[in-house]
Amino acid sequence: MRLLITGASGFLGRHLSRLAEKRYRIWAGYGRHPESLNGGNPLQLDFSRPSALTSTLAGLGLDSSDAVIHTAAINPGGDESQMRTVNVDGSRLVAELAASTGARLIHISTDVVHDGSRAPYADSVPVSPLNAYAASKAEAETAVLRAHPDALIVRTSLIYGLETMDRGTAGFAGRLQRGEPVRLFHDVIRQPIGVDDLALALLRLLDLDVSGHLNVAGRQALTREAFGRKMLDFWRVPDRHNVESVAAAAISDRIPLDLRLDLSRAESLGLELPGVDELLDRAGGTRG
Ligand SMILES: NC(=O)c1ccc[n+]([C@@H]2O[C@H](COP(=O)([O-])OP(=O)(O)OC[C@H]3O[C@@H](n4cnc5c(N)ncnc54)[C@H](OP(=O)(O)O)[C@@H]3O)[C@@H](O)[C@H]2O)c1
Repeated sequence: MRLLITGASGFLGRHLSRLAEKRYRIWAGYGRHPESLNGGNPLQLDFSRPSALTSTLAGLGLDSSDAVIHTAAINPGGDESQMRTVNVDGSRLVAELAASTGARLIHISTDVVHDGSRAPYADSVPVSPLNAYAASKAEAETAVLRAHPDALIVRTSLIYGLETMDRGTAGFAGRLQRGEPVRLFHDVIRQPIGVDDLALALLRLLDLDVSGHLNVAGRQALTREAFGRKMLDFWRVPDRHNVESVAAAAISDRIPLDLRLDLSRAESLGLELPGVDELLDRAGGTRG
């Protein structure tokens, strides 16, 4: 079986490629960082150039025995002027291709499509994005399901790893190492998921007849501050005294606060969704 992973050079894509390789022949889609790929046949995809993207995707000759997991996206902190093209138009093109060939499609979305005022969120609660990234991911969901009604939209939370540091923690560590303070929100609640657990869940979902929206996150809800501190402790980042506890609500009204997700459908499908403390316990508490 063949699997196209877009964003295979990203944090999720790299772990997904490694785990999927045992079972699939993989096209490992990347944008600018082929050196970050972790297996599979490298495939350059430029989501900022829709016509080139369309012809590259069409050239793959996908059929109904193939599958696509679309992880590529411009994430928070990336170029907002490109978010519409890459996140919305790019996702639509991927969905159109998958629909026209009959390929199974899993599209990765996010808990931040919600405004954080009505948690816990069931799987298919309508979107209420507060910022540009969230709006692009929300619009992408609609575009994908319109093009490919059998697609599965996975709404996930913060993704982290205990073998490779996630981007958020790496950013905090960098600031602390430069002697700069890090501000962590004590009023933002998320359900972080281990990257391998998410990757395994996605591979399991390729085999299941589920479509529409599905929440897939870790089962432990905790504040962004608590999660951030646990990660900095785990990675033994120095200068942790320079971490400040702040209220997101006092900084911006565009940060969703309570993003707890109802995971009952994912759990009824048998997905393993351990929380942060569970994974940390298994890893023995700290790195090394
Ligand atoms: N990370 C989180 O905490 C989190 C939370 C919720 C949802 N998500 C969602 O999960 C998915 C994966 O996130 P991630 O953290 O693994 O992302 P990431 O590490 O930032 O990687 C992004 C990937 O997208 C590719 N990409 C970006 N712009 C592109 C373009 N113009 N053309 C081609 N490829 C492009 C990148 O390729 P190159 O690097 O090769 O250019 C990279 O492979 C995303 O859909 C994200 O919205 C992430």
